[in-house]
Amino acid sequence: MMEFENEVEKILIKKEQIEQKTKELGEIISRDYAEKELILIGILKGCVVFLSDLMRNISIHCTIDFMDVSSYGASTTTSGAVRILKDLDDNIEGKHVLIVEDIIDTGTTLKYLIQYLSNRKPLSIKTVALFDKPSRRVSEIRADYVGFEIPNEFIIGYGLDFDEKYRNLPYVGVLKKEFYSNE
Ligand code: IMP
Ligand code: MG
Repeated sequence: MMEFENEVEKILIKKEQIEQKTKELGEIISRDYAEKELILIGILKGCVVFLSDLMRNISIHCTIDFMDVSSYGASTTTSGAVRILKDLDDNIEGKHVLIVEDIIDTGTTLKYLIQYLSNRKPLSIKTVALFDKPSRRVSEIRADYVGFEIPNEFIIGYGLDFDEKYRNLPYVGVLKKEFYSNE
């Protein structure tokens, strides 16, 4: 029980549902990448909870690496440019890359990352996202593996933040209106 649970308006996806889903995704990925050199690339910071659960459900050899990106304010540009704050540590040439995202919203981040990483000659690039908000899509992009499709609501928990908080909630929910403010 978190001390701040009174700030949550409603729970959208329960802890047990997420556990079950990460298990299923791990099994499918293990099968699809059998005998292949797999590198999981987590996109910070939202990926950390999902990645740590997902990787423990992957039963084949894999390595992990991280990138941190920030999108330029959506209102000031339509170019879909993304700024790289932290690049990969390792070389991905000749490897099978699986980008691990918490959520795909407009698709801008993912579209950019796929293009950016393609230049480094990986054998393949695919994406897994635990959550997907297809109704918000700007870039034509789909994840190869999706956990849950969610309605057009701003969600928090299980790695996802509002103003850097709520990432440690073990489930996914929606905040009460009065807490969606930066003051
Ligand atoms: P996109 O480039 O618009 O697809 O944005 C993806 C990123 O925006 C995600 O990796 C999240 O960090 C953030 N994001 C999008 N929707 C939500 C949400 O509902 N809750 C928390 N973060 C979100
Ligand atoms: Mg993110």
